[in-house]
Amino acid sequence: MSEVDLTVHLTQDDVVRALRSDVRTGLTATPKTLPPKWFYDARGSELFERITRLPEYYPTRAEREILAEHAGEIAELTSANTLVELGSGSSEKTRLLLDALRDNGTLREIVTLDVSETALREAADTLAAAYDPVSVHAVVGDFTQHLALVPGTAPRLVAFLGGTIGNLVPAERAKFLTALRDTLDAGEWLILGTDLVKDPEVLVRAYDDPTGVTAEFNRNVLHVLNRELAADFDVDAFQHVARWDPGPEWIEMRLAATRPMTVHVPVIGLTVPFIEGEQLRTEVSAKFTRDRIATELTDTGFTPRRWWTDGNFGVTLAQAVLD
Ligand code: AVJ
Repeated sequence: MSEVDLTVHLTQDDVVRALRSDVRTGLTATPKTLPPKWFYDARGSELFERITRLPEYYPTRAEREILAEHAGEIAELTSANTLVELGSGSSEKTRLLLDALRDNGTLREIVTLDVSETALREAADTLAAAYDPVSVHAVVGDFTQHLALVPGTAPRLVAFLGGTIGNLVPAERAKFLTALRDTLDAGEWLILGTDLVKDPEVLVRAYDDPTGVTAEFNRNVLHVLNRELAADFDVDAFQHVARWDPGPEWIEMRLAATRPMTVHVPVIGLTVPFIEGEQLRTEVSAKFTRDRIATELTDTGFTPRRWWTDGNFGVTLAQAVLD
């Protein structure tokens, strides 16, 4: 079997520094915030897996169905030699694309990028075994920082699935898409999954399931801070909140303090007061329209070539514009 080659652009030290900096910035801000990337330790990743199987959480199933139906067409249109997966958590759906590219006879390389070296090694080994003799490059990095370093033979197809782009606010999305476009040669491809604007009740239910899995996922970020920074959050004293914000058209997840509290984060010398009812924002998950996606792509140097939807979730195939 071909070996996985692993490139580390992000060391464990970098990750620890980034966490400390994010926590200091976020917990001293008004209102308080934490970035969603810190949900995903082993337990958080496991809870997210459970979310994807909840009846209320439609995006994963919707995207899988769309990709299953159109992977052949995607492979034919792109004839990609390299599939680049951003966030190896989505490997299972990426495999629909990989199967189609292999059947199409063009697949030569797989690149998978993730912040978690453990998750990445596992995903990369599985892919190397399944797609032997295709070569697998695993890149430990942050998709908002290390895109310029993504290897692979052109034409590449970059898969950014799951609706994760919705975790970025508009200015961050523009920055990300521009950076991605800059790393691609004209004619290379992006396949982008986005959740769509719909009845707010349906959206809120997807982020506030009756069995409380999403609530546990949300609170998990406090467990991460307790473990990594020796913080003393009383995790059970925070209540899960999911609300639709019609202005920016995103779901916000928050954690509400159910009583006044003083939290200590000794590793960074921080003392954080909470008043009763105070809410800490842990995630935005933006929802899109077809027009909005096309505009954001066009503005950053991509041409949308195909669009598929089941009415709930959208998948766009876009091409880096000739420059
Ligand atoms: C993995 C970022 C796409 O925003 O829907 C699921 C994460 N948060 N339930 C999303 C999530 C709450 C998910 N993404």
